[in-house]
Amino acid sequence: MKLEFNEVGFIFDLDGVIVDTAILHYKAWRRLANSLGFDFSEAQNEELKGVGRMDSLDRILAWGGISMTQEEKIQAADRKNAWYGELITHLGPEDALPGAINFLEQSADIGIGIALGSASKNAMPVLNSLGITDFFDAIIDGHSITKNKPDPEVFLKGASGLNLTPSLCAVFEDATVGIEAARSAGMTAIGIGSEENLPEANKVYSSLAEANMDTILELITLNHI
Ligand code: BG6
Ligand code: MG
Repeated sequence: MKLEFNEVGFIFDLDGVIVDTAILHYKAWRRLANSLGFDFSEAQNEELKGVGRMDSLDRILAWGGISMTQEEKIQAADRKNAWYGELITHLGPEDALPGAINFLEQSADIGIGIALGSASKNAMPVLNSLGITDFFDAIIDGHSITKNKPDPEVFLKGASGLNLTPSLCAVFEDATVGIEAARSAGMTAIGIGSEENLPEANKVYSSLAEANMDTILELITLNHI
């Protein structure tokens, strides 16, 4: 049986799918690393995509060969977050990734349920700066979850916020851990990026500008049966 658009849900990751904030996270983490006397590359930063704040800090400190008490780690993460928070105040609709706002508009127009499924505790100010908060029927962010991706919690909460069974949802993700989370939630996983980086996705598009609604609906139908 073929599903209709108004029976399914789309759950979007934020950083790297809707907005290019990876560079801002990188700038802020790098500033922290530099203040501790070391540096790390943009290639290393790739490994931080989709990874929660404290886990990211642990990886960065390991690269610098630095150990900290829990108290010091909290202070360091707070410093990074203050710098990141300053950087995102300058974001505007022009910082949305190609096709993202148009895809949200199109999805809303045809009655698809729309949720956010992000690890970030800064998701609300980013959505507000881009002027896209009202597209979302449910918002699950770093404040709403107890376990980070690849745990499926964030997406399962997104589906329940949309009152949909997981198999009726497609997740849009740029991070390997996010694709893994979507698959273990029993959802269709749409990768945004390259097939090489996201081999476990059901379908990969280079950006939301390339994404095809009919193809995605067919994939959800196949997964739901
Ligand atoms: C994810 C980013 O969306 O959110 C990660 O890809 C980031 O790089 C994580 O570490 C947590 O974000 P925040 O804003 O809560 O520090
Ligand atoms: Mg992401």
